[in-house]
Amino acid sequence: MKRSFAILTLSVFCHYAFAQEPVHVMNIDMNGQVKTISPEMYGIFFEDINFGADGGLYAELVKNRSFEFPNSLVGWTPFGLVSVEDEDPCFERNPHYVRITNDGRRLRAGIQNEGFRGIGLEAGKEYRLTAYARTVDGKPATLKAEFVASDGYNGDYGVYAQVEGREWHKITMNLTSPFTDCHGKLRIILESQGTIEMDHISLFPAQTWKGRENGLRKDLAQALADLRPGFFRFPGGCIIEGNSLDTRYEWKKSVGPVENRPLNENRWNHVFKHRAAPDYFQSTGMGFYEMFLLAEDMGAAPLPVISCGMACQFESTEVVPLDELGPYIQDAVDLIEFANGDVATTWGKVRAEMGHPEPFGLKYLAIGNEQWGPGYVERLEKFMKEIRKVHPEITLIGSSGPFPEDEHFKYLWPEMKRLGVDMVDEHYYMEPDWFFSNADRYDSYDRKGPKVFAGEFAAHDYTNDRGNSFLSALAEAAFMTGLERNADIVRLATYAPLLGHAEAWQWSPDLIWFNNLEVLKTANYYVQKMYSENRGNEVLEMTLDGKAVTGQEGLYATAARDSKTGETIIKIVNASDACKNVRIGIDGLKKRQGITSCRRIYMQSDDLNVMNTFGNETVTPQEEQVEASGKALDLSLEPYSFSIYRLTL
Ligand code: AHR
Repeated sequence: MKRSFAILTLSVFCHYAFAQEPVHVMNIDMNGQVKTISPEMYGIFFEDINFGADGGLYAELVKNRSFEFPNSLVGWTPFGLVSVEDEDPCFERNPHYVRITNDGRRLRAGIQNEGFRGIGLEAGKEYRLTAYARTVDGKPATLKAEFVASDGYNGDYGVYAQVEGREWHKITMNLTSPFTDCHGKLRIILESQGTIEMDHISLFPAQTWKGRENGLRKDLAQALADLRPGFFRFPGGCIIEGNSLDTRYEWKKSVGPVENRPLNENRWNHVFKHRAAPDYFQSTGMGFYEMFLLAEDMGAAPLPVISCGMACQFESTEVVPLDELGPYIQDAVDLIEFANGDVATTWGKVRAEMGHPEPFGLKYLAIGNEQWGPGYVERLEKFMKEIRKVHPEITLIGSSGPFPEDEHFKYLWPEMKRLGVDMVDEHYYMEPDWFFSNADRYDSYDRKGPKVFAGEFAAHDYTNDRGNSFLSALAEAAFMTGLERNADIVRLATYAPLLGHAEAWQWSPDLIWFNNLEVLKTANYYVQKMYSENRGNEVLEMTLDGKAVTGQEGLYATAARDSKTGETIIKIVNASDACKNVRIGIDGLKKRQGITSCRRIYMQSDDLNVMNTFGNETVTPQEEQVEASGKALDLSLEPYSFSIYRLTL
């Protein structure tokens, strides 16, 4: 209530101001030169940072389910006689398993899992526990599984299962939680006397997104799908490079039966000392197959990034010698086969066996993430040569380094042009002011070279401790008018990082925050959503005093046409602290043509420091119908506002 009152007051003020303040006249030329906007323009970029996969989007609730962490009982509290063994394992690539003995002297023996900063449990909801088990002496054993709340309460609740025989076999137990707790635990007890062995102890909510086994957390996946992303970049980021070549992301290890995918260190586990997470590893349970599937489910074009044979240059100087790059290049070629190949091919068959005989329709492939220097160029050249020989249809993306205007950037762009990459990936994590003053960044870019992929960006508001302030969102909205105005060259754009666990993050800001039970959509999320839902397919010429609108008077604007609906879509940011009166003239209308209706979608806040919080999203898009007719649109734009007007003519 309070908020809408504020907006009402402002617009009254704005209407009053219309008479007093100058009117800024912008023109849209309906017959001018148009630029095509890629249907995939606004996407999302997923990386397993901030517990984004394990502990986040991947719905697995058990940490260290395979006992493969270097310290094998991390995440587990043993009680009674418990050890970790690896003789005659159940899974060759994850050989460790737990042995639990109830010797009859104690009442119970077992293990308790703490999840990822707890297990999010909801009263009345069903969860599916699966494990592989065997008994040592072959006699039947009784297992009990129960949930424990953060205060130790379990509601006298438990589910029983029998483990029978010396052979490994899968057991399933369905549990309904008697309570809601963000920091619950899972306890497994050997009730009968004897010894059992267990591996791959896994707990999923019975309801995952799209109901898939080994699936994704419903609320988080839905938040991603709601962005209606045109493309999906994955799995990193620095994670594809690894802190060493050994720990790079190898897609082949992330496909096939989930139980047998080897554990990998997470590159983000100890990089930031102030946010160290020594218990951060990658199960790759949400591997390449699952990511291709997610892209497909969201209607987004998959855009995988692969290692180019260089470990993360911020962390290491390790590179693969040029004459030993063969297997790395083969991995790239095989990935295309995995995504698109016929089921009769080696990797197409793997895809089919995983449940997807149809191709995934891969068109984009990025080689390397934030690589730099001649070492990168030499390696990229080799990849390009080999991939182009067999897959000339794939759009190849090269890097311009980690920063938007430094020495690496200046060196790499001409090299990318020389090599003839199709797109260059640019990253900018800069302060809000940089975003405001770079809305014209692409207005003068060379149109003859590679296209631009704005692959990772976010405004870092240091005045707000790098939080997701409204200022940062407004800066991104302003900057993105420049991306859209230059959509002929900027073909793809995505914010980064995507996800952050509120109790386990390494990097801030993030587009979406979550804890074990809730999702928090930032103002930045809504900016991306507003752009994506109101994209249009052709950019129209729009000027203020004959020039593109790139910050004059604190105003940023772009206009597009949606040929499908026939609407004209205008995006305007008023980044100033004053109400702005704007008249939008529409040139090139036919004699009897005029505005018949206008819908406005907008976000506004007087407080640039405000941030959405769990359960209190103060800044979200609002909608209203605007009275409009004739050949011009008179607007009164509140201070600090981002507005989208959809006009029917
Ligand atoms: O988005 C977080 C990190 O920022 C990415 O992994 C990396 O590409 C960049 O440095």
